[in-house]
Amino acid sequence: MSLDHTRAPFYEALLAEKNFAPLSFHMPGHKFKAGLLPDLTTWLGADWAAVDVNECSPTVDYLHAPGPALRDAQALAADLAGSDATFFLVNGATVGNQAMLLATAHDGQKVIVSRASHRSIYAGLILSGARPVYVPASVHPATGLPLAVSTAAIAAALQANPEAVAVQITGINYYGYLPDVPALVALAHAHDVPLLVDEAHGAHLGLHPMLPRSAVQLGADLVVQSPHKTLGALTQAAWLHVVGDRVARPALAQALALLQSSSPSVLLTGSLDVVRRRMALDGRRLLGRVVALAARARDSIRAIQGLDCYGPELIDDAQGIAAHDPSKLVIDVRASGLTGTQLQARLREQSRLGVEFADPGHVVCSITAADDDETVDALLEALRRAVVGSREAQSGALEIGDLPPIPAMALTPRQALGAPTTVVRLEDAIGRVCGEQVMPYPPGIPLLLPGEVVGAEHVDYLRGQLAHGVRLVGPEDPGLQTLRVIIHVERGA
Ligand SMILES: Cc1ncc(COP(=O)(O)O)c(C=O)c1O
Repeated sequence: MSLDHTRAPFYEALLAEKNFAPLSFHMPGHKFKAGLLPDLTTWLGADWAAVDVNECSPTVDYLHAPGPALRDAQALAADLAGSDATFFLVNGATVGNQAMLLATAHDGQKVIVSRASHRSIYAGLILSGARPVYVPASVHPATGLPLAVSTAAIAAALQANPEAVAVQITGINYYGYLPDVPALVALAHAHDVPLLVDEAHGAHLGLHPMLPRSAVQLGADLVVQSPHKTLGALTQAAWLHVVGDRVARPALAQALALLQSSSPSVLLTGSLDVVRRRMALDGRRLLGRVVALAARARDSIRAIQGLDCYGPELIDDAQGIAAHDPSKLVIDVRASGLTGTQLQARLREQSRLGVEFADPGHVVCSITAADDDETVDALLEALRRAVVGSREAQSGALEIGDLPPIPAMALTPRQALGAPTTVVRLEDAIGRVCGEQVMPYPPGIPLLLPGEVVGAEHVDYLRGQLAHGVRLVGPEDPGLQTLRVIIHVERGA
């Protein structure tokens, strides 16, 4: 870090404007008067209106044309991350992922993409018109979770598609596992294409020596992070880091201007400035505590009968898993007699405790700098209480089995969007072009996406999973008696 991180220039400008409190004849409509909506005061406190300023105030910089305070705030964020430039975002990592693809790939151009990507990547493919070359996501055999994309699979996709213009990967997933980012950077650059990394769950990476290094530090070209997920920024506040000049910054700025609100909330961007300063000044200590608390929690959870908690032992070249973020507690509940969702409900009802995520076999809890010994003790106590007597309950952990191959693509995601569709019985969908997303959960990897050809193997797999009570995300008919298909395909792959 080479800049003065004791400053928080954008936050300071916002605070000054709040205190200046001019008589307003401009947006927002509340005119900084909390009395207009007393319910919001009850909910948010007396200052809710005073802090909600915008660029109508001359001292408040505008996200789409930043003045010095916001420029400096973004430069400080870049300095902390080690990037060459950083854009603040007001629609989460979602908009960063969309902009990344919009700025790097154009109509019909190929992009190498992991099949286990967040839906914002799919949205980016629709927006850009790119033709995805999906790389199968491996499902980890012992956990049943998609934990990383293998380097060999990306290498094979690049080899087979030398005209691809970018490689897009999830740099750290919900479960805290990372693919071999250095190898993927080298691979993409050897093909002279940018590596685009969705690191939504990794804004804290690289800020402590015991945490995996961030994709920025490892030389990826574009890296999207959600500081609202792991660092405490307000919900939706995110940033996009740029390294080098493989991707043109003006193209990114244009994409972001196109996709983001013309009234970006300073509550979000201001919180990014504040979080950056806190992490720059005290991050090492705070994240050191996170690492220690998570280690203690992991050991103690492993000692609770019926529960396990994954850790670095799952790092495995053969699975493409190269690193582990200790702050994620992925609790395996399969031996407890409870499903993850049942455990989640018990934690909430018995102990007023909320978790990040639950599936039939797992519960995921995250430890952040807001935690301390007391919160970790409360989590451990609640877990012990929740599993008492649980052996009588029935475990609903699911057998995922081998996923069928990724279907052939008849239409790109953009071509499929808005194509005329009809509903047919599932068995009659074989050979037709799918008109909706079908994603069994777990493992949370799309089995069919709009524009893809439905095969008999996909129908068989889905029938088998439904018989085991798997939840399907996406289809209009959740029981999948019927499937929406595209009526007529004019453009072939
Ligand atoms: C892997 C991944 N990428 C991107 C996102 C989107 O992030 P945000 O909620 O900040 O838009 C999520 C959200 O959960 C995610 O899990």
